[in-house]
Amino acid sequence: MLMQALKVEDYTFSYLDTKNPALIDVNLEIAKGEIVVLAGPSGCGKSTLLKSIVGLIPHMYSGSWSGKVIVDGAEVSKTKISELAKKVGFVFQNPENQIFMFSVERDIAFGLENLALPKDEMRQRVDEALSLLNLKNLADRAPHELSDGQKQRTALAGVLAMKPSILILDEPTSLLDPHTAHEVIGTVQKLNKNLGITVIIVEHRLDLVSIIASRLVIMDNGRIVANDAPKKVYNNSEALKAVGMPIMASLHKELGGIGEPPLSVDEFVSVLKIRND
Ligand SMILES: Nc1ncnc2c1ncn2[C@@H]1O[C@H](COP(=O)(O)OP(=O)(O)OP(=O)(O)O)[C@@H](O)[C@H]1O
Ligand SMILES: [Mg+2]
Repeated sequence: MLMQALKVEDYTFSYLDTKNPALIDVNLEIAKGEIVVLAGPSGCGKSTLLKSIVGLIPHMYSGSWSGKVIVDGAEVSKTKISELAKKVGFVFQNPENQIFMFSVERDIAFGLENLALPKDEMRQRVDEALSLLNLKNLADRAPHELSDGQKQRTALAGVLAMKPSILILDEPTSLLDPHTAHEVIGTVQKLNKNLGITVIIVEHRLDLVSIIASRLVIMDNGRIVANDAPKKVYNNSEALKAVGMPIMASLHKELGGIGEPPLSVDEFVSVLKIRND
């Protein structure tokens, strides 16, 4: 049987003093080692769902809820944030919220200081994170001297250094140029492959992330409207209305829609080559 990383069960959440619930009747199960991409229009509830997984909801944001969120066996509403933080790493949508120290390096070390690690191991993890995210030559820079993309990479490095078993990323490439975005997605895939980290990633650019996803979840208006293998969701025009059709899915459709839709340019090219042979 697959080990479970996350279970969201009949979960509805309303922020304090709001009329409509931000999440309605959400059910979602994620197995250990999956990469799940979450997409949907602005305001549909993606960040609210992530906050409910890392415990910011209900521990920091007030509101009312029904149902359950269970992370790695722990029910979130009944588990301290400090306990949840040992299981789950979270990169915020806005990296400004996550960077506070005097230098990139100090920032990456900050979270580790709470883990009471031996000095050597801490040094090693900081170095690893710096090189993973191409930050070595920026190690001594102050956060206010960084570009937005560099801040985003610093925030990600700080979380990765913690070696969480579940990594939660809220639009981690929104401020990155296409090349760096591609690299960060590649890094996420490597971490998943090499360390078995479960990943939940909110990302609008489906053409960038679908290729690494085991599952694509589409939300609309507080509800999950599709939850399946990316290729299956690419064939679900109704659900894709909420996010706009990815280029690969629409090319596939334009060309007659035979077989499964490709998820990347490379896959698309190999399908065309086979057809031409
Ligand atoms: N702190 C809050 N208090 C009250 N309502 C909130 C709060 N945060 C979010 N909301 C509302 O909850 C709904 C879901 O917001 P959420 O931030 O989860 O959306 P999102 O899918 O992450 O959007 P985006 O793509 O713009 O980041 C929206 O209607 C939003 O206005
Ligand atoms: Mg959001």
